[in-house]
Amino acid sequence: MADSILQKKSVCVVTGPTRGLGRSIAYQLSKKLPDGSLFILLSKNKALLDEIAGLIITHRDEIRVVTSVFDQGSSDQGQFDNVFQDCLVKAGAHVNEFEQAILVNNAGTLELLELSRDLDNVNAVNVFFSTNITGCVVLTAKFLQVFSATAMKARVIINISSLAAVSPMKSWLLYCMAKSSRDMMMKVIGEEEDNIRTLNYAPGPLATDMSVIASTETKDPSLRAWFEDQVKNKTLVECDQSVEKLITVLEKNSFANGAHIDYYDEA
Ligand SMILES: NC(=O)c1ccc[n+]([C@@H]2O[C@H](COP(=O)([O-])OP(=O)(O)OC[C@H]3O[C@@H](n4cnc5c(N)ncnc54)[C@H](OP(=O)(O)O)[C@@H]3O)[C@@H](O)[C@H]2O)c1
Repeated sequence: MADSILQKKSVCVVTGPTRGLGRSIAYQLSKKLPDGSLFILLSKNKALLDEIAGLIITHRDEIRVVTSVFDQGSSDQGQFDNVFQDCLVKAGAHVNEFEQAILVNNAGTLELLELSRDLDNVNAVNVFFSTNITGCVVLTAKFLQVFSATAMKARVIINISSLAAVSPMKSWLLYCMAKSSRDMMMKVIGEEEDNIRTLNYAPGPLATDMSVIASTETKDPSLRAWFEDQVKNKTLVECDQSVEKLITVLEKNSFANGAHIDYYDEA
């Protein structure tokens, strides 16, 4: 049986840790990873990055945290080229001091929510794919370069996926495409790279800002009504509950590279 992923001293990158699921992932993983681990937290909102960094350090002073304001939808090459090196320098850390590097590709957006026949604006479609695909691909490439198979004995990439990766949802075309593409990205990287574990984790319908958007902006009436009902009746899955399931999967460490594991799957 493989060792738990969470037993190794790690450098752990989380995108979108300021709200919702990403915040819960960063906080819960910081309670599990060994002393000396380093968190690199990336998103657009500096104040909220500082807040989650402070929360982690308050509860685990043996864990180091660095934050960087980062827009995954940006086309500024320099932002991607330097982000990991800058964060390591800021932390006074070197790749060699870690047993493992973890990347949690959590940051994502739901809008543009339109029926396929209405997705006729080139710029709007490009903006969606820049944030949800292009930026994720380029950040992941930089992660694989800085935390290379030669430098690291173990690497883990977790893509936060969705039921939408495997099941069509009316008026959610771009989101479904992005999630299924990112699932495939984990399968390809799992084949290409050495010393790597790749996982797609679909966290269930969550009580976050994104589900509120789903309940108001979804154009398909039956899907919108389902989200409205879930938000109104507070029946969505709590982020901490979903992260507990993710932690169980990481501790068990028996998934095939590129597997799609859902919150509702049996542990
Ligand atoms: N909510 C659900 O029901 C549900 C279900 C299945 C899967 N998911 C997936 O779970 C993940 C998290 O969703 P959530 O519900 O927690 O969403 P959320 O509450 O809207 O939070 C999204 C996070 O992504 C970050 N983000 C958004 N755009 C960004 C950008 N351009 N650059 C960097 N960071 C960016 C945000 O940070 P800043 O605003 O600080 O930049 C925020 O921390 C997403 O991948 C989502 O698709 C959600």
